[in-house]
Amino acid sequence: MPSKGELRLQRLLAEHERWRSRESLNLLASENLSSPSVQRYLSSDMGRRYTLELDQVLHGEKVDNGYAGTRYLDEVEGMARSLAAKLLHGKRASVKPLSGHVAALCVLAPLLPRGARYLAVFPEQGGYDGYAPAYIPSVLGYTARELPVHGPLHEVDVEEVTTKIRREKPEAVILGQSYFVLPYPVRPIADAVHEHGGKLLYDASHVMGLVMGGEFQDPLGEGADVVYGSTHKSFFGPQGGIIAARDIELLDRIEAYMTWRILDNAHWNRIAALTQALLEMERYGRAYASTVVVNARALASELEAQGIPVLGADLGYTRSHQVFLDGATLKARHGLAPPGLARRLERQDILIDLVGRVGTAEATRLGVRKTDMPEIARWIHSAGILGKPVKAQVNAFRRRFKRLRFA
Ligand SMILES: Cc1ncc(COP(=O)(O)O)c(C=O)c1O
Repeated sequence: MPSKGELRLQRLLAEHERWRSRESLNLLASENLSSPSVQRYLSSDMGRRYTLELDQVLHGEKVDNGYAGTRYLDEVEGMARSLAAKLLHGKRASVKPLSGHVAALCVLAPLLPRGARYLAVFPEQGGYDGYAPAYIPSVLGYTARELPVHGPLHEVDVEEVTTKIRREKPEAVILGQSYFVLPYPVRPIADAVHEHGGKLLYDASHVMGLVMGGEFQDPLGEGADVVYGSTHKSFFGPQGGIIAARDIELLDRIEAYMTWRILDNAHWNRIAALTQALLEMERYGRAYASTVVVNARALASELEAQGIPVLGADLGYTRSHQVFLDGATLKARHGLAPPGLARRLERQDILIDLVGRVGTAEATRLGVRKTDMPEIARWIHSAGILGKPVKAQVNAFRRRFKRLRFA
């Protein structure tokens, strides 16, 4: 007989899964769906095991792994590393970081000494909070300086940024944002930072699936030294992190530092699941990534057609999986800001960020097409602006998509 606690836990999972994976329409830009095969690897025996590459002499004997029983795990890791390097156009890759944030720590700590300065977009302009002075810099002893961007879609003025880099000579420039709709002019920024021996780092957490699918941009091909980030936002892997570098030596430095400083066990079930997702990306990535972007642009213009203001019409709204609602105009026009809109939508089983960011990665994986966007935008208007019930239609729509696409 299950205990009361076990029954409660079972009920929580069952209700969560019914709501989140069968009834609601998820337009959160940070999430995605992984395939049944990825789920299978996540719950496999590999999640209970250890493997630890070593280069040590113990009792006079050379030892290359601290554990026995690792032969299959090690082969899986080898597959993941070569697939990741191939898809990100790097010479070598690591799949050990446990998340995008951990990947950032794994890259920064060995490459930048304490006291180093980096330029990054600040959170007020759509940058990742972790790079703001109070967070990673306060832990690793860095000074974070602002990388300027302009306008609602956070455009880079090449002249301004490269002049600032040449003047300030930071040890690194970090590209990549949490609000991320336009590719960067990577090449001139890379040239400027390389002139004084600095590094160009590209946090692709949000756009990883698009980069791997040949959409958005190719950070390493365009001059970045390292690309890294989460594996579960626009990329449909398990939650985790990944790093790829243009040079073998650079990745070796990163890997030599990470074990016992930032992580030890790398969660081998996650790495097996990631390998499956990388195989799916290798096979279906191009079609997936281009559909995600087509869907995002279609959703943006359908939202505008419904009177829900979206930023950046003159730039085509977006080239990623994200769309930014225009919070100020929304409030002026409808007396409702993004948090209020998101709460009303949640009650009708449509999920968007409370900060006014809408994403199409998960819906695309489900099989939602450009031609579905007028209906979705109408529901967002009915539920979010007029406060009308649309839950029954949303649930029925969601149930139509039984088999994951691009898997
Ligand atoms: C640009 C960027 N980097 C890193 C992270 C952290 O990723 P994770 O949640 O995988 O640690 C985020 C999270 O949203 C992000 O937006």
